[in-house]
Amino acid sequence: MSEVIEIAKTELNQKGYLDIDIDPTLDLVHEINKLKKEKNAIILAHYYQESEIQDVADYIGDSLGLSQKAESTEADIIVFAGVHFMAETAKMLNPTKKVVLPDLKAGCSLADSCPAPLFKKFKERYPDHVVVSYINCTAELKTLTDICCTSSNAEVVINSIPKEKGIIFAPDKNLGAYLIKKTGRDMILWNGACMVHEIFSHEKITKLMHRYPGAKFIAHPECEEHILTMADFIGSTSQLIKYTVNNEAISFIVATEAGILHQMELLSPTKTFIPAPPTNSCACNECPHMKRNTMEKLYLSMKYELPEIILEDWVIQKGRKCIDAMLKISVDAGFKA
Ligand code: 13P
Ligand code: SF4
Repeated sequence: MSEVIEIAKTELNQKGYLDIDIDPTLDLVHEINKLKKEKNAIILAHYYQESEIQDVADYIGDSLGLSQKAESTEADIIVFAGVHFMAETAKMLNPTKKVVLPDLKAGCSLADSCPAPLFKKFKERYPDHVVVSYINCTAELKTLTDICCTSSNAEVVINSIPKEKGIIFAPDKNLGAYLIKKTGRDMILWNGACMVHEIFSHEKITKLMHRYPGAKFIAHPECEEHILTMADFIGSTSQLIKYTVNNEAISFIVATEAGILHQMELLSPTKTFIPAPPTNSCACNECPHMKRNTMEKLYLSMKYELPEIILEDWVIQKGRKCIDAMLKISVDAGFKA
């Protein structure tokens, strides 16, 4: 067995995860819960994770809640059931703790759309501007950022910047355009986008709205403007969930990654949730990066404490500042995990 583990470890770089056979009769939920206790580990999961992973997590949240929870945890090991930039953020907030991600290749198309060396050159064209980056970006991009934001607190973050200051917003042009509308601030936008939130079909959503006349249409601000203009409510994942709990409507058409439906259905079992359809018939409203994590990979990452997030010291020190700035603004504005 140990030889198998050594081979699996050497393969980590190519595969991104530990590829070790697991006894198919093993009760993974039981084993994961046992490992949590033995290792004083906490599982933080995003709403886009598969349902089984959400059910075994200690905390499920949006990007802001997950960062706040990562900052305050007393666990020795943080197991991040989400994507790479989220686990990197947890590591920056906990440089002395071990942070593991079940699959290192669980990336993010938004983070990929903004390579730090290109952004550095772009930023040089606007030397007096404040750089606000959506948290969906690499740790290296965070070293070039003044204040981070998430979809929950983006408006508050933008409004905290003095009116006379110019702003560069990266990497999401859709969230950026939405924020320009909401805040009235004229921002320079980086041309990035999320592959999952750009596939919703205006035509198919219109048809659905006719079929379910009482349904509310709700959307994440990473969607394109022509989709957002149709929405009854726009918000981060946690804000969308809260809306479905508090609103008296009994059906909701949901334009974001389909994993969110699990919590919506758990919290409002008598309501109907319809995933907004994409332009073609594939399952494109599932994030292929988020869905790289599986229960098997989660279990293995906890058992062997691999793959681990490792960041250079200078990246942690420099990149953390924009996260700290965001967390301070969020606490002052009353955001709590
Ligand atoms: P939230 O912070 O709203 O959960 O967004 C995370 C994300 O990746 C959306 O695509
Ligand atoms: Fe990134 Fe889009 Fe996946 Fe969110 S849904 S993690 S923004 S690729």
